This record gives sequence, structure tokens and C-alpha cells, in this order.
Amino acid sequence: STGGLVDRFDRPMRDLRISVTDRCNFRCVYCMPRAVFGRDYAFLDRDELLSFEEIERIARVAAAHGVRKLRLTGGEPLLRRGIEELISRLAALRTPDGEKLEIALTTNGSALTVKAQALKDAGLGRLTVSIDSLDDELFQRMNDVRFPVSRVLDGLDAAHAVGLGPIKLNMVVKRGLNDGEIEAMAAHFKGTPYTLRFIEYMDVGTSNGWSLDEVVPSAEIVERISAQHPLEPVGATVTGETAQRWRYTDGSGEIGVISSVTNTFCGTCNRARISTEGKLFTCLFATEGHDLRALLRDGADDEQLAAAMASIWGARDDRYSEIRSSLTPELRASRQRVEMSYIGG
Ligand code: GTP
Ligand code: 5AD
Ligand code: SF4
Ligand code: SF4
Repeated sequence: STGGLVDRFDRPMRDLRISVTDRCNFRCVYCMPRAVFGRDYAFLDRDELLSFEEIERIARVAAAHGVRKLRLTGGEPLLRRGIEELISRLAALRTPDGEKLEIALTTNGSALTVKAQALKDAGLGRLTVSIDSLDDELFQRMNDVRFPVSRVLDGLDAAHAVGLGPIKLNMVVKRGLNDGEIEAMAAHFKGTPYTLRFIEYMDVGTSNGWSLDEVVPSAEIVERISAQHPLEPVGATVTGETAQRWRYTDGSGEIGVISSVTNTFCGTCNRARISTEGKLFTCLFATEGHDLRALLRDGADDEQLAAAMASIWGARDDRYSEIRSSLTPELRASRQRVEMSYIGG
């Protein structure tokens, strides 16, 4: 209706996830393990990153072609200097119908006590905070930089206090690591303003050494929580949503499960990703991206940029999670997948 793009499976481009930095102050064992992301790791130089002007331009053209939601990710997006300025620029964009875009951000929460008010003032709409355990010893082992969980919880409260919300929490569940925390996390956040979502550990990138045994299926998570506090399913509200929603039968809120391995959702996937250096990826598991930064820096105008996006999205046939189980471990390993910290979660 408004010039929206669709791919080869008729999926629209609605959600644009923008990685604003490939750096992070955490070294989560499942994302940026120290053995790979150590002192000598070559992060991108400043001039390799998209500038705010470039990000704004890509977002504006994307919004003219169907994108309704922008999510800033990383790495840790709050490490990008001046992020508030970027948010206010993005908050000023409009769809062809004159609507504001939904602006969300995924963070590890470490800087929220300091940044919450500025983010709210800049026009941030929604926030997602990653928190993998309430047990401080385990939390610190998982982030591998000795960051205490209490400071993330303080950050959450700060974000809530300034009216940033709705706030979602992401817990990546890895068997043998933090699966013992499932019930405690659910109980702690039951009845709070925060919606906790459990994410099946995925084989993103090549540095986390994923294996299927380490995935705790969402069905098991729901069953375990339900045994203590009964849950019932809530019908999906937004098509293309990653999480399946469940609510407590006693009315004290809901949880979500993101079954990226056991119950895949490629069929409605409307997400495009812009890497830190300006490549457009049509799938979290894509082996390569399309260099929009080169176009911009070569002087392409908005029409040329739009044409490039249209042709890339039009050719899109990704559905990695659906085919994952049919790949042998060797085939999976031979695929050159990009890291999550670079492409953005
Ligand atoms: P909302 O539901 O709008 O809050 O956003 P979201 O679920 O898209 O965002 P969020 O960044 O919180 O994503 C949660 C997690 O879902 C990510 O960290 C990934 O682990 C997973 N995820 C998100 N998008 C995709 C996707 O396109 N493919 C797969 N396989 N997993 C995804
Ligand atoms: N599997 C699932 N989720 C992951 N995240 C990072 N790595 C993985 C993985 N291998 C999550 C983070 C954060 C979001 C952006 O992605 O915990 O919540
Ligand atoms: Fe940083 Fe998030 Fe990756 Fe942890 S999961 S290392 S917080 S980007
Ligand atoms: Fe979308 Fe690719 Fe994830 Fe499937 S695997 S949901 S196509 S990003």
C-alpha cells in the first residue's frame, strides 16, 4: 500500500535492526568469548562505522519502503558516543502515512543508571535488557568481566522510573550453564512491570562453539515454570513477533519464549539488519552482507539507495533456522556466519 518491499516468500521488510558498535564491555561466554575477543581482537575503527547521518539516511529510506520499527543493537549500543543524538534524529523520522517509527534498543543494562533519563528525553520508545541470571556469582561468570547483577537491576529500576517502557528482559538459556536459573528468574520477575523472555541458545557466529545439547527447548521451559505457577498461551498479537507469549493464570503478567531452534519463525521474518559498518544482512545467519556504506560514500542519492534495498530485499530467500536441523555439523561449521556483536542481535 505504501511502497513496501516484499521478498521471494512475500515477507515484508518491517523491522530494521541497526548495530551501532561492534564493541561491548561484557564478554558473555556465549557471545564474545575472551578466547576470541581478547586484547588483540581487531574491532572496527571509528571511520569504518556508519556515521549518524548515514544511519539516519538508511533509516529514512527504509521507512519510506515499509520499515516501521527500528532497533538499535550492538555490541553494546550505549557504548556508542552520542547515542542520544542518534535516537533523537531517528525519533524525528516519519512513515509515508506521517506516523512515528517505533524506536527500540537492546542493551546489557550496565549503563542504564547513568543513561536512562537521556534516552527517554531523546525519544526512545522501548527497551530490552539482557539478563541471564540473578545469581551474582553466575552472572559475573557469564559476563566474564565481573559485572554485578545488582547494577543491572538498578539500571532496570532507573529505566522504569523515568518512564522508559514497556521493558522486556532477555535471558539466553544455555544448558549446563544457567538453566538452573529458569524458575528463579520467572519467580523474581512475575508481577513486575518487566516481561521476561527466555531465548533458546543459537548457533550464531562461529566463536561460541554451539551444540544442540546445550539448547533447552522452550517447551521444557514453559513446563518447568508452569509446574510452579500455571501458564496459559496468549495468542500472538503482532505478525513476525519472535516470542510466543504465555500468561500466568493468576493474572500476574506474562513471559515469552523465543524458540529460534525448536519452533522456528522464518516464515514471518520481517527483519533486516545493518551491521556496524553498513552492510545490509537479510538474515541473522547470512554469510555475507550488501555494502550500503560504499553506495553512500560513493555519492548515491536516496533513489539509488532505495533501488539497492529493493533489489536486495526482493531477492531474499533466507530461512536458516528452518533448514538448520537438516544440515550436518560439518556443513554448519563450514558456513561462514558473522558474529552477533557485529551484525546485531
Ligand atoms: P520485540 O519482540 O519487538 O521486543 O523484539 P525482538 O524480539 O525482535 O527483539 P530482541 O532484540 O529482544 O530479540 C530477542 C532475541 O530473539 C534476539 O536476541 C535473538 O536471540 C532472537 N531473534 C531476534 N530476531 C531474530 C531473527 O530474525 N532470527 C532468529 N533466529 N532469532 C532472532
Ligand atoms: N543465542 C541466543 N541469543 C543470543 N544473544 C547473544 N548471543 C546469542 C545466542 N548465541 C542475545 C543476547 C541479547 C540479544 C541481543 O541476543 O543475550 O539479549
Ligand atoms: Fe555484549 Fe550482549 Fe554479547 Fe553479552 S550478549 S557480550 S552484553 S553484546
Ligand atoms: Fe529471519 Fe534468518 Fe532468523 Fe529465519 S533465521 S527468522 S530468516 S533472521
